Amino acid sequence: MKLKKIADNVYMIACLDWDRRLFDSLIPLPDGTSYNSYIIKGSEKTVMVDSVDPEFSDLLLHHLQDIKKIDFIIANHAEQDHSGTIPKVLEKYPDSKVITTAIGRSLLMAHLHIPEDRFQTVKDGESISLGDKTLEFMHMPWVHWPETMVTYLREDRMLFSCDFFGSHIATTDTFVTDEGRVYEAAKRYYAEIMMPFRKMIQKHLARLAEYDIGLIAPSHGPAYNKPEFILEAYKEWVSDQPKNVVVVPYISMHGSTKRLVNRLVQGLANEGITVYQFDLAVTDIGKLAIALVDAATIVVGVPTVRSSPHPNVMYALNVANVVVPKARYAAVLNSYGWSNESTLAAVTNAIPNLKVEVVGAVGCKGLPTAETYKEVDQLVRTISEKHKEDNLI
Ligand code: FEO
Repeated sequence: MKLKKIADNVYMIACLDWDRRLFDSLIPLPDGTSYNSYIIKGSEKTVMVDSVDPEFSDLLLHHLQDIKKIDFIIANHAEQDHSGTIPKVLEKYPDSKVITTAIGRSLLMAHLHIPEDRFQTVKDGESISLGDKTLEFMHMPWVHWPETMVTYLREDRMLFSCDFFGSHIATTDTFVTDEGRVYEAAKRYYAEIMMPFRKMIQKHLARLAEYDIGLIAPSHGPAYNKPEFILEAYKEWVSDQPKNVVVVPYISMHGSTKRLVNRLVQGLANEGITVYQFDLAVTDIGKLAIALVDAATIVVGVPTVRSSPHPNVMYALNVANVVVPKARYAAVLNSYGWSNESTLAAVTNAIPNLKVEVVGAVGCKGLPTAETYKEVDQLVRTISEKHKEDNLI
């Protein structure tokens, strides 16, 4: 595959990882992913922006075979899927330097053993000239590591954002063509990686609003030649206002919890609330994370196994606690064999990072009774009232 031209003397090198199905041995990748590196040829200096996953180092070096000189390698982010091939590029271009933040330097030295004298650190707002092109570096920590920055190519109005605005998707498209498909992939990426840093991202978006951005070039997924598409999506995702959405992750061992879930979901739907229901025995945890981006309320359906909550539910709660959605309310539906003494406390204690008000807990020993269903119906009314009070309905 040849270098993809995205502007005059600016090229994308997209390494497509069609078959990767897990990232960090944790995050499902139903559409694979890609690692984008960029080459910017100024009249005096040439730079590479980000490298690629070490699995693709041969492909990257193949793309670089006709490039005689690289002066700088911009490391917007130290994670190995973007930095892992930097040592090989430094070897190929012995006079080149890595440009990164001071924290980025310490991380790259620790993770890749790059010698200290191969770095040139940049301060927030600093710029360098490539001759007829100028690069400005903006420190944007916590998208999603502490050292992350983005690089703005002033003359071409291009933003190299690395993970920020990225999408886990393998596609031969240089620019977004199927917005629906990329929207879901980018939202999945945001939900799993960026959501814990929502407040920081609000500030970064406000800063970027001051810039004239004609194209966003992330290091995962296609580039955005209509950047408002992803900028508007991010604004919505990071906003403090949830939607009229309830997410119901659950497990049912013998059908009792499922009965409670069915009653609740039907009742909420009748109230005009959008519900996403996930059977945790089979669900893609990334789909759950996507639904959590907008949810105002989370209702967990959990059976008690001996004296503890079902472990699949605890795993999902742990994920929710890590990604920190903006949900405001939570409730529990529980069925148990003979005792549920510790289950409810274990469930609510599992999500300390979430600032949620617990608005109800309905339990039943064995099958739900008419009384149990009345309690579920009351929970429906409570959730509906909360959503109305918050002007979500
Ligand atoms: Fe795509 Fe944080 O690495």
